[in-house]
Amino acid sequence: MLIFEEEMVKVFGGRSWVYLAHESQLPEPNSYLSLRMGRRPLLLTRDKHGAIHGIFNRCAHRGATICRDDSGVARSFQCPYHGWTFRNTGELVGVPWPQGYGPDFDKSQFGLRKVERVKAYRGFIFGTLNGDATSLEDWLGPARDWLDYWIDRACGGEVIVRSAAFRMGYRGNWKLAYDNAGDGYHPSFSHRSLLDMASRMGEAKDMSYFGRTPDDGPMKTYSLGHGHSVIDQRPAYEGPPGSFWRNQRPQPGRERFEELIRSQYADRADALLDLCVGAQINLSIFPNLLIIGNQIQVIEPLGVDRTQLTWHATTVRGVPDEVNTMRMRTQEDFPAFGEPDDQANFEEVQRGLAVVEEEWIYMNRGLDARWQTVGEDGVVKAPVTDEMHMRGYYAEWTSQMDGEDA
Ligand code: FES
Ligand code: FE
Repeated sequence: MLIFEEEMVKVFGGRSWVYLAHESQLPEPNSYLSLRMGRRPLLLTRDKHGAIHGIFNRCAHRGATICRDDSGVARSFQCPYHGWTFRNTGELVGVPWPQGYGPDFDKSQFGLRKVERVKAYRGFIFGTLNGDATSLEDWLGPARDWLDYWIDRACGGEVIVRSAAFRMGYRGNWKLAYDNAGDGYHPSFSHRSLLDMASRMGEAKDMSYFGRTPDDGPMKTYSLGHGHSVIDQRPAYEGPPGSFWRNQRPQPGRERFEELIRSQYADRADALLDLCVGAQINLSIFPNLLIIGNQIQVIEPLGVDRTQLTWHATTVRGVPDEVNTMRMRTQEDFPAFGEPDDQANFEEVQRGLAVVEEEWIYMNRGLDARWQTVGEDGVVKAPVTDEMHMRGYYAEWTSQMDGEDA
C-alpha cells in the first residue's frame, strides 16, 4: 500500500481520533454537514433528539454519494441514483420496488456504515473508527487545557462557527500544513510582507522581535503528547484587561469600533475589546485540527500532493454585534495575506521532496540546544523556534503507522 493510502486508513480514523466539526455547525435537530474523514465521504448529522452521528456518505446499493450538498436540514437522504432512502441515523428505510430483491431481502442489513465513536469535547466533535481507541479526553491530554483556555475566552464559553468558510487548496502533502502550524521559526522570513504591511499601518507590536532571534522573546512552544503542540504568544501580551486589544496588529477602522464599544459598555469595554482580537495561540491537534488565533482550521488530505485547508471564522454568543464585527475583521487578514506565503512554501517543499536522490530533511532545531524544560505532566517547553513539534508528531505518526490496521 502506498504510504498516503496507509495514512488514510491508519491515521485518519483508523487508530486515533480525528476532528470532524464544531457543534455549532449543526445548529438544530436534523442538521447535517458533508465532510471527509481522510478521504471517506462522511455525513455528520444531528438526529431529531439532538444526538450526533457520523455516517458514511456512500450508498449501500452501489456506492454512490448519497447527499451531494454541503449542509442543510434533513430527516432522511434519498440516493439520487436509484432512490434508496436512508434515515439521518444511517438505517435503510426505503427501496424502490423491493419485490425485485426477493422475499428474504432484509433492509436492516443495508444501513450506512457508521463511525464507531463520535464524541464532542466542549463543542469540538471528533470521531474514530477504532472502537478500542483511548477516550477522547485521554487522547487530547494536556491539549485540553489549551482548548479550555480558548473556549473560556468567550463569555459563557459559547463559540459559534456558522459563517461561510475560507477554503484553499495547495499542491502539496497534508503534513506540510501540520509542520507549519507549529513552526515559530519561519514568520520573520515567510511573512515579511505581512509584517511590513502592518508596520505601514502604524506601530506593529509583533515586529518588536523582528531582526532579532525570537528565542530571546517571550513566545514559547510546548509539545503536548500524541502529536499535539501549541505556540503560546500570550506572554507578549500579558497584562490587565485590554492588553490583547492594545497590542494587536493595527487595522483600518478600529478606532471607530473602539469608541463605540467604550461609549456603550464602559466597565466591560476592555474585556470586550480583548475578544475582538486573536487568542494568541496556535494549537495543533494531530492529525487535522489547527486553532490559529480565533479561527478553526481543518486539514483535508485529497491526494499525496493535494490538500485542502479550510479556515472557519468564529463569533461569540452574547456579546454586542460590534465585537463580532471587529472579530471578523481581525480574522480576515491572515488567510488573505499570510496563508498564501505559507502555501507557496508548501508547494516549493513538495517540489524539493520530489528529488528522490536526497532522502532526508533536517528537523533537529532545539535537539542539542539544552533549552527545553519538562513539566511534571510530561509537557516539554522550549523557545519558539524549536522544531520539537515536528519530532513530536512524527513519533505519534510512526506509532500509528507501525500498528495493525484497525
Ligand atoms: Fe444508491 Fe443505487 S447507488 S440507490
Ligand atoms: Fe506561517
